[in-house]
Amino acid sequence: MTIALNSPVVPKLSKLTRYLEQINESGHFTNFGPLHHELTRRLEAYLGVKNLLLISNGTLALQVVYKTLGITSAITTPFSFVATTSSLLWQGIDTQFCDIDRNTYNLSPEKVREAIKRDPKVNGIIATHVYGNPCDVEEFSRLASNNNVKVVYDAAHAFGIKVGDKSVLNYGDASILSFHATKVFHTIEGGAIVFKRKEDYEKAKQLINFAICKGEVTDVGINAKLNEYQCAVGLTVLDDIDEILTHRADLFALYKECLNDIVELPKWHSSANTNGAYFPICLGSEAELSRVAEELSKRNIQYRPYFKPSLDSVFSDVKADILDISRDISNRVLCLPLHYNLSRADVIEVSAAVKRGMSCPVQ
Ligand SMILES: Cc1ncc(COP(=O)(O)O)c(C=O)c1O
Repeated sequence: MTIALNSPVVPKLSKLTRYLEQINESGHFTNFGPLHHELTRRLEAYLGVKNLLLISNGTLALQVVYKTLGITSAITTPFSFVATTSSLLWQGIDTQFCDIDRNTYNLSPEKVREAIKRDPKVNGIIATHVYGNPCDVEEFSRLASNNNVKVVYDAAHAFGIKVGDKSVLNYGDASILSFHATKVFHTIEGGAIVFKRKEDYEKAKQLINFAICKGEVTDVGINAKLNEYQCAVGLTVLDDIDEILTHRADLFALYKECLNDIVELPKWHSSANTNGAYFPICLGSEAELSRVAEELSKRNIQYRPYFKPSLDSVFSDVKADILDISRDISNRVLCLPLHYNLSRADVIEVSAAVKRGMSCPVQ
């Protein structure tokens, strides 16, 4: 039996069918229909946010944010999923990489501060809450107001994460979420933007509908709307979200209990909860990672070196500061299976395989 790295939450058919019947009867399939409205309101209430705009995927959400906020020159992290950077390049934005923090693996505010000093053209910071672990949001807020730059968080992994009692999505000028099937909450494909300001939300809402306003094209827009069938999936999954988050956070805690003392884990924000989106471990060396990977493969346990490679090696034309930490962590990190369909027994089995891999004699 394989232990899968990830496995999507399957929407309950009985509930989903009722929504689909409702859509078919109304004939309202897309363009901000009733289920779109219902999902928006329910997500805003659940997450504790305002100005949430549903988008057809997380990558387009990033692109729409950059255009809405007028970002033309950005600093970003090389330690993220490819879309964080490719969305910037697709928009033709002047992009540069800064290194990450050695403990949290999130973009380093200190490195960003130095880079802004060197390049006053920079008007955007794009930082990822890696694995759902909040960035140093207070420090980025200070940096933004002292330097007149916008902050965008790629919060694709951070569904349900709070700093203290405030949603992490309330920091920065905007945050994006991904609702891809592999995420904690999903609409198969999908995403959202949470804007700080109502006027940015209004502007983006037009942009994602071809920039049409009262029948007139007012700007260069795009089509990034989420359709009613996908909203039906979202509403169905959302009914079970507390159970999903509790189960994932429980597995995360169990992994931590099993592995905390023997492998390095990213240092979690001291005031934040966990959502069990991923369980990354950082091994002592590439050789040790290979031994652990071999042991996992032998037992049909899936894993993923995530994020590898550091994105500066994918986009070698992008300006880059010294990125020693991102490169080093990328070569030593891997994510273990973690999903709603995983059991506590699976976590114990995976952890035992990791331990065996680590104690294998060096060849
Ligand atoms: C950090 C990060 N940013 C952006 C995305 C892109 O989201 P989507 O797949 O919804 O386009 C992902 C998706 O995996 C991601 O992990």
